Amino acid sequence: MSQIPAKAADPQIIDQSSRRRTFAVISHPDAGKSTLTEALALHARVIGTAGATNGKSNRKDTVSDWMQMEKDRGISISSTALQFEYRDTVINLVDTPGHADFSEDTYRVLAAVDCAVMLIDAGKGLEVQTMKLFEVCRQRNLPIITVINKWDRPGLESLELMDEITERTGLRPMPLTWAVGIAGEFHGVADLRKNEYVRFTRNSSGASLALEEHFTPEEAQDVEGQLWSDALDEASLLESSGEFDLDGFHAGTATPVLYSSAAQNFGVRQILDALVDLAPSAAPRADADGEVRPVDAPFSGFVFKVQAGMNQAHRDHVAFIRVCSGIFERGMVVTHANTGKPFATKYAQHLFGRDREVIDQAWPGDVVGLVNASALRVGDSLYEDTPVTYPPIPYFSPEHFRVAHAKDPSRYKQFRRGIDQLEHEGIIQVLRSDRRGDQAPVLAAVGPMQFEVVQDRMAQDFNAPMRMETLGYSLARLTTKEAMTTLAPVRGVEVIIRSDGEYLALFNDVWALRRVAKNYPDLPLTQIGVNQDASV
Ligand code: G4P
Repeated sequence: MSQIPAKAADPQIIDQSSRRRTFAVISHPDAGKSTLTEALALHARVIGTAGATNGKSNRKDTVSDWMQMEKDRGISISSTALQFEYRDTVINLVDTPGHADFSEDTYRVLAAVDCAVMLIDAGKGLEVQTMKLFEVCRQRNLPIITVINKWDRPGLESLELMDEITERTGLRPMPLTWAVGIAGEFHGVADLRKNEYVRFTRNSSGASLALEEHFTPEEAQDVEGQLWSDALDEASLLESSGEFDLDGFHAGTATPVLYSSAAQNFGVRQILDALVDLAPSAAPRADADGEVRPVDAPFSGFVFKVQAGMNQAHRDHVAFIRVCSGIFERGMVVTHANTGKPFATKYAQHLFGRDREVIDQAWPGDVVGLVNASALRVGDSLYEDTPVTYPPIPYFSPEHFRVAHAKDPSRYKQFRRGIDQLEHEGIIQVLRSDRRGDQAPVLAAVGPMQFEVVQDRMAQDFNAPMRMETLGYSLARLTTKEAMTTLAPVRGVEVIIRSDGEYLALFNDVWALRRVAKNYPDLPLTQIGVNQDASV
């Protein structure tokens, strides 16, 4: 890789970039992502109290409830970034939509961050969605910090969880803390880096910081007796305990592990400390040609998400940019790399839930929401002065397919415009074939929620209500034009064209895929993205 020289190193930009930690939490629904988000923000004193222990119903007004407005409307999916300062470090927590709204957006966010926190429910271990997201992180060699949450509830044993992490992710677990007390009896953590015991006492409501007491190992032995010895014995059984391989963490081959009870605010400060001390800061990024653009080069960034209709009153269209180099200043006119046209950034915002703050300046690692950005698509690059194009964000393999029809055929033009626009925003992939015709495009999505968004937007924004018919396919592979003829008579399979001209073979199930692979060994069937089982 070659490196574009910066004109003269700009110490201010370099300093600001090195202070940035930009990360996302990857987890299965219900592992505690929202609770942890609040707890992290609480520790950084963004909010006064966190209502986590009282359940979701009491958290409506807290900062992490950024989705509520969309949920109320029956649509969802928005990802934004929460920014807070902790120990002189600026932490950007980029939301990965979870729950039923699992979608391509969830994956795309991972292109915009420098690190991921893999949050595991101590009672459940590694769950399906966590593994899918982990695969995307692995593909990007993203450093991962593992947090074992809900240790205040009965769950698996520590060593069992470490084995599971090793076996299923291939990452070498490197505990930074080790729980004192079995799952369900969370007394505190052995801080293996500082060689001390941190005992937590729950605040009566759990809604504010827990009391932390620090003990030397000798004191810990007196205070906790057998529980302390057990914790140390277990931790020492892990080969790696004691040594921390920072390079392995940054290369995505080893993972620091910490314990928490997000609901009780136990172990949360230690997570923030790990982010500050160990996670990578905003670093120079390689462009599409592999050339690295230094952080203090002129401004550049790329769009990782486009969101329309976030604010019903304004019907706006927001493009979320990850700043990669230089200083972003509101009002600056940048170049849209994909069209070569100027783009005015008059309306730049930092978005978090319902709260929007006008942003005046942003630095590498920060996320900026550009309003009225209908020209921008997911993956597009923006720059000032020296041109740069960042690598495209990959397509992910769709798992749900529906045929779309305009309810009112006389509104076909609006229907088509709406479908094209939603595809442009990256909400849905659009597939077509001569057999089905343009009147009946096939919509493809990673998560079924995306169809609801499409249906809602088509009716509300384009005045083109539509109906959908579910197709039974669940798998897609990239193939060639020839497959269209070859596979035409085969049941449970259909070859269809994506709007970028690629041919996709759709299969009912893994058996249909295996049958075709066996009967037509010369037919290319390439996996798309990394969100599907590659073993077939
Ligand atoms: P998510 O965003 O990952 O989907 O999870 P969320 O934070 O909403 O947490 C899911 C449930 O798990 C919540 O309960 C939350 O209170 C609980 N939870 C999160 N972290 C912890 C933890 O460390 N310990 C314990 N014991 N519970 C935790 P809920 O769905 O609101 O129901 P309820 O249990 O509060 O009634």
